[in-house]
Amino acid sequence: MKPRTFILCTAILAAIFLTGCSTKTTIGLLMDNYETERWQRDKDMFIARINELGGTVVTDVANGDASLQYKQAEKMLEDGIDALVIVAVDQNEAAKIVALAHKYKVKVLSYDRLIRNCNLDLYISFDNVEVGALQAEYLTKVCPQGNYVLIGGAVTDNNSFLLKIGQMNVLQPLVERGDIRIVFDQFANRWAEEEGYRLMTECLAKKQKIDAVIAGNDNLATGVLRALQEKGVYENIYIAGQDADLIACQRIVGGTQTMTVYKPIEAIATKSADFAMQMAAGEEFKNLNLSVNNGKRMVPAVLLPAMVVNRETIRLTVVAEGYLKENKIYD
Ligand code: GAL
Repeated sequence: MKPRTFILCTAILAAIFLTGCSTKTTIGLLMDNYETERWQRDKDMFIARINELGGTVVTDVANGDASLQYKQAEKMLEDGIDALVIVAVDQNEAAKIVALAHKYKVKVLSYDRLIRNCNLDLYISFDNVEVGALQAEYLTKVCPQGNYVLIGGAVTDNNSFLLKIGQMNVLQPLVERGDIRIVFDQFANRWAEEEGYRLMTECLAKKQKIDAVIAGNDNLATGVLRALQEKGVYENIYIAGQDADLIACQRIVGGTQTMTVYKPIEAIATKSADFAMQMAAGEEFKNLNLSVNNGKRMVPAVLLPAMVVNRETIRLTVVAEGYLKENKIYD
């Protein structure tokens, strides 16, 4: 081979190699916000798994602004991604993002929260009806009679309504028997502490005795407790939450919260990353035998199990799974 031909061949091979390197699979990840502790973990674990599988992640956070989330999706799709994973700010508004992604021939995975009324490709979450049932079953065992308050999750999130179904499946027979009275029942505008505080304050203004509060998640429960403490009426009130926030686990061991529900974050992040890579490669989903109606179609789905966390099971659940450190909880 002449030296010039050799140089040319080497250059061509190098170009092929470099192009190969730059065509790494890119997954877009759109987050709602980081107000709840878990979301940072969801994001980190998702990225770690995609990297492990040889892909790369571009990510953005909308801080609770649905139209900003749309713009962030637009930009990602314009720049080029192979699949899109969304923690939707708004279950209805996000349908526009799904339609837009499909114009770019990019498939969409709804992470933890279902996006409604669109041709969504995949939904990965927990059994949220079961989460609501776990909360209500627990509280009705420790407090089988009395006045119950329901502080639901964000109205923009389909999960809030699934939780409510699970809660009412357990509570309604007890209401009909006359054992339980639901004295306050409202959804929050956001999954935020201020919302828990606002709604609980509204409830307390009615001056009725309260025996138990089921809060959509621990953030809301934090606000609920602040409102109760301000009025000095927090003793002997049973409180349920969700998400196994550190502060909630500390309250559980300290006795000011009764239980929370832990949704294993590593499980949802890893599963979603595996499926996102399959979507990006245009593969058919394997081993999916569940689908969920989103108002427009039956969406292929994976629903993972959640766990009750109480005083006795903290070490066996959140600590054993490495989600929280024992010394921090018992600080
Ligand atoms: C919901 C989720 C809850 C909680 C909440 C806060 O979609 O089901 O577990 O994390 O978001 O953002």
